[in-house]
Amino acid sequence: MKKIAQVNFLLLIFFAVMLLTSCTKGFIPESVEPTSSTNQGDTVTYQTHISKVIYNSCISCHGGSNPQGNLLLENYSQVRNSAESGMLIQRINDAADPMPTSGLLPAQTRALFDEWVQNGYLEN
Ligand code: HEC
Repeated sequence: MKKIAQVNFLLLIFFAVMLLTSCTKGFIPESVEPTSSTNQGDTVTYQTHISKVIYNSCISCHGGSNPQGNLLLENYSQVRNSAESGMLIQRINDAADPMPTSGLLPAQTRALFDEWVQNGYLEN
């Protein structure tokens, strides 16, 4: 008699756990992957996103009267030209020979450039 009660108790716990897990599953939202690296869903433009990265990470060498690699990245058309040639995108993703020379930018920052290219190099 006692044994049957014990088995019933275990069964009860088993079903309670099943019920709980099956319920909570429905309430836990699927982890939301950011669809855009801007995290705001806004379109990447030169003015809003790209120029900031260039000014923070590139202009010290690719600006002024004697730019490194003979490459100026001071304005929209210069940055666009380098991106269109494929050179800029290649070098910011080149782990062996990265730009900036100090090391690869965070993946999310580099993804901004990919989006910018895909969206047709929007200026603003
Ligand atoms: C510390 C200085 C420095 C910084 C910062 C820097 N670069 Fe450069 N970059 C160079 C030098 C030096 C070269 C030429 C030698 C070479 O190609 O590695 C060069 C070359 C390049 C080239 C190839 C040009 C060509 O036509 O061969 C590209 C594209 C480039 N850089 C893009 C960038 C971008 C984009 C950034 C910022 C994300 C950046 N660089 C940041 C120093 C720098």
